Amino acid sequence: MAQQPFSLWDMPTRAFHWLIVCCLPLAWLSAETENYDVHQWTGYTVLVLVLARIVWGFIGSRHSRFSDFLVGPAGVVAYIRGRGAASVGHNPLGGWSVLALLSLLLLQAVSGLFNSDDVLFSGPLYHAASTGLRDTMGEVHDIAFNLLLALVCLHVLAVLYHQLRKKEKLLQAMIRGRAPGREGIAAAVPWWRALVVLGLLALALWWGIQQAPQPAPMAW
Ligand code: HEM
Ligand code: HEM
Repeated sequence: MAQQPFSLWDMPTRAFHWLIVCCLPLAWLSAETENYDVHQWTGYTVLVLVLARIVWGFIGSRHSRFSDFLVGPAGVVAYIRGRGAASVGHNPLGGWSVLALLSLLLLQAVSGLFNSDDVLFSGPLYHAASTGLRDTMGEVHDIAFNLLLALVCLHVLAVLYHQLRKKEKLLQAMIRGRAPGREGIAAAVPWWRALVVLGLLALALWWGIQQAPQPAPMAW
């Protein structure tokens, strides 16, 4: 019996990606409309998803691992000069942009924990931080979002370039797992492991939020 081709992107990698894609506009919209209930929960969701994707970068399926797509400067230069990609997954340039996107998302969500609108809502670590740290994190939250927007635009343009100009089936593979010309070379690890990772991270975040210091009572 012929063996089924393997998935390039396992189910957890695809789920992390598209859930993050759904959360970002929601986080932006809720901040703009000052709906901080929605904002904090979308922010926590992004935090857990990104941390889980980072863990998955070590224990996930072959092409989701950082070791599969992060190559040194020589590999990136060779790729730019047209000497092919090292992996059937992310190309050497794309690999580093994945790391940049994940790092920025993490920075965005973590800086939010220290942020406040100075009126009604404060992140859970706001009262644990010095005034200097609060100010810094406020600026980081602002700047990281602009950088994130720029990088996401670049990311979507790069995907469209490969998809439309080079006729590579990137989107089909990111939706269905694989596509003709975009197949993996190793079997996926069981997806439920990612659920365990997600569950443990969500529990750890929930526990951490419970431990966060409350604001000092007002002196009248
Ligand atoms: C909202 C912002 C977005 C963020 C933060 C984001 C982030 C990422 C990340 C981190 C990856 C790497 C996947 C992994 O290995 O885990 C990725 C891959 C990918 N993204 Fe996005 N993405 C965004 C929006 C989009 C959109 C709108 C599209 C559709 C046009 C898209 C299409 C893809 C595709 C096709 C890949 C796979 C690329 C490849 O085959 O090398 N992304 N994205
Ligand atoms: C990746 C997830 C997140 C994204 C994309 C995001 C995005 C944004 C944006 C675009 C703004 C408005 C710009 C600004 O004033 O800085 C904002 C403000 C804010 N965010 Fe987030 N945020 C995220 C996570 C969080 C989290 C987890 C918290 C806290 C639990 C948080 C708390 C706040 C607060 C308090 C403000 C108001 C800041 C002010 O009024 O100066 N954010 N966020």
